[in-house]
Amino acid sequence: MSASANAEEDGARAFTPCRACHSLDPAERNLPGPNLSGVIGRDVGGAAEFDYSPALRKARDEGLRWDAKRLETFLADPAAMFPGLWMSMRGIEDAAERQALVRFLSDPASR
Ligand code: HEC
Repeated sequence: MSASANAEEDGARAFTPCRACHSLDPAERNLPGPNLSGVIGRDVGGAAEFDYSPALRKARDEGLRWDAKRLETFLADPAAMFPGLWMSMRGIEDAAERQALVRFLSDPASR
């Protein structure tokens, strides 16, 4: 198996616990967390119809966007980036795992 195929698998595996609250299927919008299809390049707090915390609404009002770098930093310690965040998840300590997850979220072909 190639190294890139392994990285894709690692990303999919890293996303498994997120699926309890997030979907990558644009039609699925009734989970506890915002839909994450196309999150890279999207405004922070930008999923239509999701009722975000004041912390993420403020970030959206300030014009923040999700790029790969911001997403990776966020995943290392979500509440540190946005104090008051309504997402109860500890950060992912392993940098390689965070990178694989960000790649997985940015590349629709790898899903
Ligand atoms: C227990 C439920 C839960 C889990 C598990 C969870 N999240 Fe979240 N997530 C949320 C909620 C709720 C929000 C919205 C937070 C807010 O409004 O403050 C959120 C917000 C986000 C956002 C910001 C989205 C946006 O539209 O700006 C990203 C990115 C994100 N989560 C990624 C992840 C990833 C990746 C994982 C897995 C490693 C994960 N989440 C695990 C509940 C969860």
